[in-house]
Amino acid sequence: MPALHEPQHWPDSGTGAAQKTHDGGKSRPIPLLTTGNRLVDSVFMGLSMTRMPDSRNWFEPMPVERRRRIPPLHRIDGVHVELDGRRLVNFASNDYLGMADHAEVCNAASRAIEEEGLGSGASRLISGDAPQWPELERELAEWKGYDAALLLGSGMLANMGLPDALADRHTDVFCDRLSHASLIDGARLCRGRMRRYPHLDMVQLASMLADSNAERRIIVSDGVFSMDGDCAPVGELIGMAERFDAIVVIDDAHGTGLLGPEGRGLVAEAGLAGHARLIEVGTLGKALGAYGAFVLGARPVIEGLVQRLRTLIYSTALPPALAAAASCAVRLAREGSARERLQANLAYFLNQAEMHSLPLLPSRTPIQPLMIGADASALRTSEQLREQGYYVPAIRPPTVPEGTARLRITLSAGHDIDQIDGLTKALANIMGDRV
Ligand SMILES: Cc1ncc(COP(=O)(O)O)c(C=O)c1O
Repeated sequence: MPALHEPQHWPDSGTGAAQKTHDGGKSRPIPLLTTGNRLVDSVFMGLSMTRMPDSRNWFEPMPVERRRRIPPLHRIDGVHVELDGRRLVNFASNDYLGMADHAEVCNAASRAIEEEGLGSGASRLISGDAPQWPELERELAEWKGYDAALLLGSGMLANMGLPDALADRHTDVFCDRLSHASLIDGARLCRGRMRRYPHLDMVQLASMLADSNAERRIIVSDGVFSMDGDCAPVGELIGMAERFDAIVVIDDAHGTGLLGPEGRGLVAEAGLAGHARLIEVGTLGKALGAYGAFVLGARPVIEGLVQRLRTLIYSTALPPALAAAASCAVRLAREGSARERLQANLAYFLNQAEMHSLPLLPSRTPIQPLMIGADASALRTSEQLREQGYYVPAIRPPTVPEGTARLRITLSAGHDIDQIDGLTKALANIMGDRV
């Protein structure tokens, strides 16, 4: 099998008509379908002479600088990975608090596997509850300051399902342009009408809300933006919801565990957790080091979601071991020592970056994007860092807007000062050489 990211060349079967390929105009034969019926065969033949796609030539090949790669990465510990036989310091993970390889968190998962087995076997609505799920839901609701929580398989599932469950065709859904793909896709696929507003632009949002004559309105936004590291103005969004009679869905995947009192997140930091106009989403796969997601809100909305949220109803439930691991991680995150180490690392990184005049986007969170611009330069910088022992992937369109390719540096409580020093110096050298 060719590697996923390599251009695909297929052997010449010698039985078909020649066709122009997408990759550089080389021609290659296409196997012809024959049915024994002359009329049908000639139609097939006609089609195949122009173009007859099968699964092998279905997609246009991506230009090299746009091609996504799945690197063969082995995680050595919380902050080291091995790539192509080399040990690199990992500045690419969302495991901000080092929970993914924390001994207590991993032991909690192992114990739950012994008790409950690995997979959950079916949707929760079919096979019932393992004790770890309601327990984690209670803990999350209490920690984050809401009436109730509902666990889901992943953040993608939560966000793809929520707009569909909440919106009918008389609903307008307003979405920050730089929201995570899962929120945007969820809003796009639901029965309501999606409207996108420019990133953080409350004036534009207000004008779009004022123009809306839908029966119901939903505003959706990341809390901490995943590729920019900046924060939604939660207070202003709720103010808008009150003024224009809307509800707000905030996905605080990247604020949970990090911001606010006890790491309760961006919304709690703004003192707005549990607000009646708010539904919050969080994930277990980032600062909590596990996998899965949750929705928080008033009890009636959570109960309503159990009836309507198709990505809950028609999807196999989260493995109980992941819920057990996440419960343990919530307890550790609340204690605060990992958060303090992360804050110290972040302060040191920002200080060094300023000293070396690195072109960071403004962010007070562990997501620290370094703006490059052109796709090829971002890839080259990432490769140069790799040569010097640091793993920081390039993020390119369509994940970010055209012309804003960047390195997404993420900091962890597990990094030490030498590693941060090394990274900022390496970056300063690479960027300096380029000027
Ligand atoms: C803001 C945000 N929401 C949702 C998700 C998706 O969550 P999950 O990885 O659990 O599917 C991500 C990234 O993974 C994200 O960055």
